[in-house]
Amino acid sequence: MKKLTFGALMILTVTATASAAMAQDVAAGKTSFNKCLACHAIGEGAKNKVGPELNGLDGRKSGTAPDYNYSDANKNSGITWNEAQFKEYIKDPKAKIPGTKMAFAGIKNETEINNLWSYVSQFDKDGKIKQ
Ligand code: HEC
Repeated sequence: MKKLTFGALMILTVTATASAAMAQDVAAGKTSFNKCLACHAIGEGAKNKVGPELNGLDGRKSGTAPDYNYSDANKNSGITWNEAQFKEYIKDPKAKIPGTKMAFAGIKNETEINNLWSYVSQFDKDGKIKQ
């Protein structure tokens, strides 16, 4: 009986640690998103700025934010945004989409990229946090 309780406690502890780590990723990703904020909005009521709003990015086709005037390079890239595509793109946007008008050098740090994806991918197309 004692053993069982200990086991259950261990599972609880591990679960709590994992979700705390995830929350930390999201918080760090939000800070990193400050680099994008000059040009991109995300979340409820997000509007296009210099760049398109980024709600519902996970699974969204490139060049499809309503009423945003994309470059042909972005529109015709054929990318459907997901974790792998995003991570490759944000490292070096101009290498992934030659001719893009996104004037951003990129982020090289893997941890920062992971955190950024945790933050960006949590928003659904209405800018609500996915459950
Ligand atoms: C200086 C302005 C600027 C900054 C800073 C910037 N972007 Fe962009 N971004 C753009 C523009 C402009 C486009 C549209 C590109 C095109 O049409 O060629 C774009 C496009 C994108 C796209 C493609 C969207 C789609 O609908 O296909 C993603 C994803 C993206 N940016 C993510 C980011 C993230 C994440 C950051 C921060 C790390 C960032 N951008 C920083 C200007 C910027």
